Amino acid sequence: MPLHLKANIPVSDTHIPQHVAIIMDGNGRWAREKGLPRREGHRAGAESVREVVEACKKLGVRFLTLYAFSSENWKRPKAEIRALMALLKEFLRVKTPEMKSQGVRLHAIGRLEDLPSDCQRELYSAIDQTSSNSDIDLVLALSYGSREEIVDAARQLASEAANGILNPEDIDNDLMGQKLYTKNIPDPDLLIRTSGERRLSNFLLWQISYAEIVISEKFWPDFREPDLKAAIAEYGERNRRFGSI
Ligand code: FPP
Repeated sequence: MPLHLKANIPVSDTHIPQHVAIIMDGNGRWAREKGLPRREGHRAGAESVREVVEACKKLGVRFLTLYAFSSENWKRPKAEIRALMALLKEFLRVKTPEMKSQGVRLHAIGRLEDLPSDCQRELYSAIDQTSSNSDIDLVLALSYGSREEIVDAARQLASEAANGILNPEDIDNDLMGQKLYTKNIPDPDLLIRTSGERRLSNFLLWQISYAEIVISEKFWPDFREPDLKAAIAEYGERNRRFGSI
């Protein structure tokens, strides 16, 4: 049955991407426009996270990866980092029962060991409690940087080669993919970035090789179910050729 999305673009079920990745951007500008502190933008952004996860599940998206905190975000003022970590912890504490009952399985990618220990505890507990779910896989990128991920993979491969358990000739795309944080997660089909910025910002650079990119002009806290549907409709109209003709 075709789904009728925003702007009355009918999108067939077959055009639903299996994996959607999102660069959630514009929380700070959203807050500034309203004369609010930046942390209020992040708080409103957490509400968009809840709504978009639910909407993805309803639409049949199987994997959703959200760029929640980049390796570069550690350069922000200490107070903002503290506010973001507190929000993450609260989100995990409050939303885990909901994720459990809604069939959401949580994963995290990034240098998770850099997160404050109370956040790590909450995160691993949420991952553990949702591990038997299978309706939708929600992947939070935390302290994540794509170059760092590729460096970590290169170190693993180099160390296996140095120990004689890997022949460098055997390194190929598949083996490289297996050394990334995202091993066992299919590559994103659709990458969405909000707030009108047109940058990749060190996000999933290996994995998005063939992803379709959709830019939304909305700030992340304003990005809700109809905006997700509009992005998926735009994706559905693209003709993915994977390098062939
Ligand atoms: C970008 O906006 C957003 C972030 C750096 C963090 C994303 C975090 C959330 C949406 C909230 C919490 C997330 C979870 C998973 C609970 P920005 O601050 O860079 O905005 P700006 O470019 O307008 O300053």
